[in-house]
Amino acid sequence: MTLLVIDTDPGVDDALALLLAWGSPGVRVEAITTVAGNVPLGQCTVNLFRLLALRRPEPWPLVAAGAEAPLARPLKTAEGYHGADGLGALGDWPEVEARPGPSGAVELLVEKARHHGARLTLVALGPLTNIALACEADPAAMRRIGRVVAMGGAVDVRGNVTPTAEFNVHVDPEAAARVLDAGLSLDLVPLDATRRATVTRAELERALGARPGPVATRVLAFTRHAFAREGGRLSLHDPLAIGAAIDETLMEWEPARLTIGSDGETRRTPGPPNCRVAVGVDTARFVRLLLERL
Ligand code: BDR
Ligand code: CA
Repeated sequence: MTLLVIDTDPGVDDALALLLAWGSPGVRVEAITTVAGNVPLGQCTVNLFRLLALRRPEPWPLVAAGAEAPLARPLKTAEGYHGADGLGALGDWPEVEARPGPSGAVELLVEKARHHGARLTLVALGPLTNIALACEADPAAMRRIGRVVAMGGAVDVRGNVTPTAEFNVHVDPEAAARVLDAGLSLDLVPLDATRRATVTRAELERALGARPGPVATRVLAFTRHAFAREGGRLSLHDPLAIGAAIDETLMEWEPARLTIGSDGETRRTPGPPNCRVAVGVDTARFVRLLLERL
């Protein structure tokens, strides 16, 4: 069984990533923490509760809200891509009561790290603010986590917010730098890999058309805005990080030493590795797996 804790800023591709995790046999999503990123924190948490109400996963995860802003700079969001509410700006999501648990995200991350240690895989799908704060709160417990899989960075390819920086690292470079220095078992899934994991609108429609229902209808609706922005082919950034957490053989990994530039650049630098970077993807196998499990 793969035991997951997911830190996320939903987000259209975060939503697909959560649906993949919830639809995967042998995977238990124990807790989900939210972080400001694609949209402000409150909206991220509302979006998570919308997705929980839509999918009703078993078991129901613990939920905690985390950082409202990056460690050392103002928040930059990405409504232009994800829609004004972060989930396609549909305007007809059923009302939900967003009630995270009493612990904050950092507390919950540390508690899960202490309790599960090497059995746990932590997946980070947004800026690394909560993870950096958890590393500060209990570095030893965080180092005992089996794997930390983070979607972020543009190592040998162009960035997606600046020519050299990827969104999650660009939003909170100080957090990314701390996480790289924290001595974690860190697997980074950068744009180098995620740009090779894409799905067309027609492929998604075909797959979801085979099992119609409220989830299929909503997925087709909330992805419409992002498909339009990407010219009909959606990059599966965050779902690929979940894929990496569930089955690391979906990717080719390369040990690397990275440093973070002031704008969030992920630069190779000489010295002992501080992470593994996903460099290749079995795209066909991953897309098939995703489409079967949404
Ligand atoms: C990352 O940025 C966000 O907008 C996506 O949700 C993903 O986590 C891709 O650069
Ligand atoms: Ca994300």
